[in-house]
Amino acid sequence: MNALEAMHARRSIREFTDELAPAETIRQLVEAAGRAPSSKNTQPWRLYLVQGAALEALRSDYLAAFDAKTPAKPGYQYSPNPLPADWAARAKDVGIGIFKHKGIGRDDADKRTAHDRENFRFFGAHQMFFLGTQASAFSYGTFLDCGFVLDNLMLGLTALGYGSCPQFSVMIYPDLLRKHIPGTEDTLFIAGLPFGRPKPGSTVNEFQPARLPLDGWFKTVE
Ligand SMILES: Cc1cc2nc3c(=O)[nH]c(=O)nc-3n(C[C@H](O)[C@H](O)[C@H](O)COP(=O)(O)O)c2cc1C
Repeated sequence: MNALEAMHARRSIREFTDELAPAETIRQLVEAAGRAPSSKNTQPWRLYLVQGAALEALRSDYLAAFDAKTPAKPGYQYSPNPLPADWAARAKDVGIGIFKHKGIGRDDADKRTAHDRENFRFFGAHQMFFLGTQASAFSYGTFLDCGFVLDNLMLGLTALGYGSCPQFSVMIYPDLLRKHIPGTEDTLFIAGLPFGRPKPGSTVNEFQPARLPLDGWFKTVE
């Protein structure tokens, strides 16, 4: 699979098999992802792989926090508030699309909550990356640099036959990450990335939200 094929093939995967990616595969993936460019080669990213008993303990705390309706305390604001109208329309469409794919009706509040809860179950993944940076020193560009690593990871996973789903939702409880991931007192967590082999026959994994036509966002000036 070449780079363009990987970009087209990647989509968010929200159901996984129980197969684990071997440690050596992960090491090679992370090494390649770390080839990402960064301003002045500062490499401001920090990446944590959480799996095994540590992931189960984290998952259990996340589900308890979600079920208790613990107030969100994100380390940073991801999106402008309010969203520009055209962004909001696309965000609404993606929500409707995913619910349709899962057969969840407009008024089915319980199933909608169960869908949201899946985020805090990390979609059942057995392995997960958490991407962060230094909490005491970051700026807009830091997020750009870290985003390159996140995309490298997602594309690399796709090329290796794995799937993943970037997650901001789980960033609302950073204290749980600090509790379970040692040495992260000064880490600003940016995104989670549960990953694994895509579950065959999963309908939610088939969901592929459309993209804007090129002339909606790309212009040549000459
Ligand atoms: C940084 C980031 C955070 C995201 N957070 C979530 C999340 O918490 N839960 C979720 O289901 N999808 C999440 N997504 C996935 C987006 O909904 C998805 O990328 C978008 O709808 C496009 O679909 P695709 O990834 O399948 O191409 C996130 C995506 C990004 C880039």
